[in-house]
Amino acid sequence: IADGPLKGKHVLVTSGPTHEPIDPVRYIANRSSGAQGTAIARALAALGARVTFVTGPADVARPEGVQVIEVQTAREMLAAVQGALPADAAVFAAAVADWRVENASGSKMKKDGKGSLPELVFAENPDILATVSRMEKGRPALVVGFAAETDDVVENATAKRKRKGCDWIVANDVSPETGIMGGDENAVVVITDDGAEAWPRMGKDQVAQRLAAAIAEALG
Ligand code: C5P
Repeated sequence: IADGPLKGKHVLVTSGPTHEPIDPVRYIANRSSGAQGTAIARALAALGARVTFVTGPADVARPEGVQVIEVQTAREMLAAVQGALPADAAVFAAAVADWRVENASGSKMKKDGKGSLPELVFAENPDILATVSRMEKGRPALVVGFAAETDDVVENATAKRKRKGCDWIVANDVSPETGIMGGDENAVVVITDDGAEAWPRMGKDQVAQRLAAAIAEALG
């Protein structure tokens, strides 16, 4: 553990997509690479934090110097997060699947040769950010959520912050033309009690460093 302003603090970070199985060989996922969450975990560790990094099956290499917990599904991610608490701060950068397949098959689904189509039945996944934000006992002092939006970014993210009960929301525009999802850069708006602060477009590593510094300042 490095020396720095976060020495002695435990910070939890979620990252990456989740995979929700359809059958043993198929799943539902999303385009999250895990790059921003990984950069945040690195930046927090560089400031001296003890970091627990709960990640879905992400493309990017895992950060060094942090405790990595690998999960597949949203429900596994929630269990891992609950098991990792207490924490001084928690950053929820994972792109958690909103729905899982309730009638996932235990064996590989096959075509029946008559053109029948499978019917997937969906169930809503637990909202990990909202669950932790609303904990009555042992809630981290600072809970940071992300909001990936394609329209009305600040308005939607401000509403999301209220709805979920987190302290800060880091909002970004993931419209395909921005190249942010899967890219090296991010342009975020950070929404706190004090309002919305737009940060210039910069590398995901720089966003992570600035966010880690803000977290260190907030935790004192
Ligand atoms: O509702 P939405 O998915 O846009 O919210 C995004 C924020 O909520 C992110 O911080 C994400 O990590 C978190 N989230 C979560 N569990 C879910 C869905 C989203 O922790 N099931």
